Amino acid sequence: MKKTKILLIGAGGQLGSELTQGLWSIYGIDNVISSDIKEPQGVLAEGRFERLDVMQKDKLFELLKKEGITQVYHLAALLSATGEQDPRWAWKLNMESLLYVLEGAHELKLDKVYWPSSIAAFGPTTPKDNTPQDTIMDPTTVYGITKLAGERWCEYYFRRYGVDVRSLRYPGLIGYKTQPGGGTTDYAVDIYFKALANKTYECFLSADTYLPMMYMNDAVKATIDLMEAPAEKVKIRSSYNISSMSFCPAQIASTIKKHIPDFTITYQPDFRQAIADSWPKSIDDSRARTDWGWQHQFGLEQMTEDILKNLKK
Ligand code: SER
Repeated sequence: MKKTKILLIGAGGQLGSELTQGLWSIYGIDNVISSDIKEPQGVLAEGRFERLDVMQKDKLFELLKKEGITQVYHLAALLSATGEQDPRWAWKLNMESLLYVLEGAHELKLDKVYWPSSIAAFGPTTPKDNTPQDTIMDPTTVYGITKLAGERWCEYYFRRYGVDVRSLRYPGLIGYKTQPGGGTTDYAVDIYFKALANKTYECFLSADTYLPMMYMNDAVKATIDLMEAPAEKVKIRSSYNISSMSFCPAQIASTIKKHIPDFTITYQPDFRQAIADSWPKSIDDSRARTDWGWQHQFGLEQMTEDILKNLKK
């Protein structure tokens, strides 16, 4: 049997370092190579790391061949808020890099590919509550457009070439170990840091803006569970709805107040409000639960307790 050898692309981002550690514990530190366009920060420097600009297709293919990579987790992308600053670049980076990875998987006969989609693939006329797996998708951000198009490409490579590509539509991801960069849901990370540092937070979304969210531990678990599932259980090859909780800024603030009683929040919505307003409020992830047994572990209370406890250390 071929030995599993994993490459993570864009591992320096919010999800990458925690996912890398999750994969170390299954496959061993020597069989997981993390890569990013930037120098490795924190824990990534402890394992195998390669500097890689995913837009240099030749370098990507060279690395896949040289290391005998069997699985790729492609996490490099521009997110929703930063994507709006340079829409054409967001399109180019998010789409071309995915196509390079899918092409590599096909040509070099890789075992599996993971690529994240997002709730941003939905849009203003998508049903907002308990958004179904199959529904209207009319994204308004360039990031969302790349996610919807990317989903179609993933399914295309699966049907046409049999590439075993798997994907999740992540909600807002919340972790305390690596800062997110340029997302609309980032307030739910920042709020914990500011609550501890200053006991106050100015939120760029309005008090009652509900969005689907997920604690990083659950995001890592969902990703690895999906990738470890037998191929026949992975029935959706575009991207699975995935969910664990949904809340608004006022709710996260009152949960934080239980731990930091004098915490206060103010609201100053900016351009990200319109992005958030175009996204679902909650997600129906029953297909993930029935197809490959997805179960979440963290709700708002448990997450808040865990983050504050760890950040205080
Ligand atoms: N968290 C992402 C963002 O806000 C959504 O996938 O851009």
